[in-house]
Amino acid sequence: MDMFVVRGGKPLVGRVAVSGAKNAALPIMAATLLADGSSRLAGVPDLVDVATLAELLRSLGVHVERTNADGMELSVVDTKPWVADYELVRRMRAGVCVLGPLLASRGRACVSLPGGCNIGHRPIDVHLKGLAALGADIRIENGYVIATATQLQGADIYLGGPFGSTVTGTCNVLSAAVLANGVTTIEAAACEPEVVDLGNLLIKMGARIEGLGTPFLRIEGVASLAGVEHTIIRDRIEAATLMIAAALTRGRVELEGVCLHHMTAVVEKLREIGVVLERCDNGAIAAGENRLVASDCIALPYPGIPTDIQAQLMALLCCADGLSIVTDKVFPDRFMHAPELVRLGARIRRESASAIINGVDRLSGACVMASDLRASAALVLASLAAEGDSVVRRIYHLDRGYERLDDKLRQLGADIRRVRDAPENMPGTLHSEILSDQLVDTDDVQPISGPNWHRAASRTPRQLS
Ligand code: EPU
Repeated sequence: MDMFVVRGGKPLVGRVAVSGAKNAALPIMAATLLADGSSRLAGVPDLVDVATLAELLRSLGVHVERTNADGMELSVVDTKPWVADYELVRRMRAGVCVLGPLLASRGRACVSLPGGCNIGHRPIDVHLKGLAALGADIRIENGYVIATATQLQGADIYLGGPFGSTVTGTCNVLSAAVLANGVTTIEAAACEPEVVDLGNLLIKMGARIEGLGTPFLRIEGVASLAGVEHTIIRDRIEAATLMIAAALTRGRVELEGVCLHHMTAVVEKLREIGVVLERCDNGAIAAGENRLVASDCIALPYPGIPTDIQAQLMALLCCADGLSIVTDKVFPDRFMHAPELVRLGARIRRESASAIINGVDRLSGACVMASDLRASAALVLASLAAEGDSVVRRIYHLDRGYERLDDKLRQLGADIRRVRDAPENMPGTLHSEILSDQLVDTDDVQPISGPNWHRAASRTPRQLS
């Protein structure tokens, strides 16, 4: 397992390219199950989640090949497999994206139910409701969803859930409806740019879809789809993360390829907080030239502020003047980064689906533990702004969804190193404290190596307590 060692306080300056969007790449890769012939994708980020989905698709009879750094060719070579195994789906919830395409193309799908998740309860009941409305027989057995249908039939479907629209649920039902008999309408469809990107791929393949980017979709089923070429949109979450990095370090970063149109709510909010954002020829420039001021943020489905940027915004607001409130209406329990930010000196109090943040003048380096993908990003951001050395552990979460973030940050001048998670790699400032500290029992720690040093690592150094 790796960890990051970060020495904070270095302004990030320079230019960096934004990668292809993970959350577009995953359902798009899954949708190639629907097509006859091969599809060539560009802009596929090099991520652990992408590699896991490629492995899952191979197990389902798809030939998957990386053609270059961001290119991928996928073609169905065997239409018999229909079981998406637990071992693969448990590693990545987006494995559930194969459900709709498998069902529509092979008449049956057996997909392991994704299990628990650090960002909160994540059922797939709305996905199943939508597929059942298309005529699928659905049952859950031994931890698997088993869906069968000789021929899906178009239907009028309401896809709203208790927390609004569902992104991968919309992807699943849309991907199934394109091969159904007759017309399907979907109300309360997710409008995220990643869903639109999937829809555009399907249209290129021969699907008939109207209303992409709105909550109302009309799909006229077709008999077959063909392989195509497609370039995946850039990752608006990575772009926003890098904008916040520029602001927190008082730097100036040019983001190549970013589409500001996909992130209007975030741009508005960042400007309100004091981040300088300007369009430039091939993207945008983010700079931290102004004082950062407190602001209230609510994460909502698109076009609102995405929940996937909530943790990073919180890291920014930790360093803004005044009192901010951050609320997550999509995943109301997605706050595991808050206590770790507190370890870095932030002042945060959790109140049900909100966190109240009292900005501080300075953060100070500490050893922190990443709990999920976006929480990891928030901790890296706060570490870049903190005085002294920080260690961010369990960065395998980050590698699931950010393409070589440490390389990109280093390219911009950050002092960040990826090292094996081991006591000898702890920076001196943190290392001596850990070894001399008394051990305490903490929950949810995985032994790495050595005599329980990792347990002590999550504690406050003695002289500070
Ligand atoms: N929900 C239900 N029932 C369902 C589906 C969803 O109640 O059947 C609830 C969820 O529990 C949540 C809300 O609806 O409260 C929205 O969930 P959604 O289904 O939209 O999430 P998702 O499709 O599972 C995708 C992204 C997430 C991102 C969310 C919200 C992918 C692969 N994942 O998940 O990305 O947070 O949409 O925008 O697209 C990430 O990249 O870090 C990440 C977690």
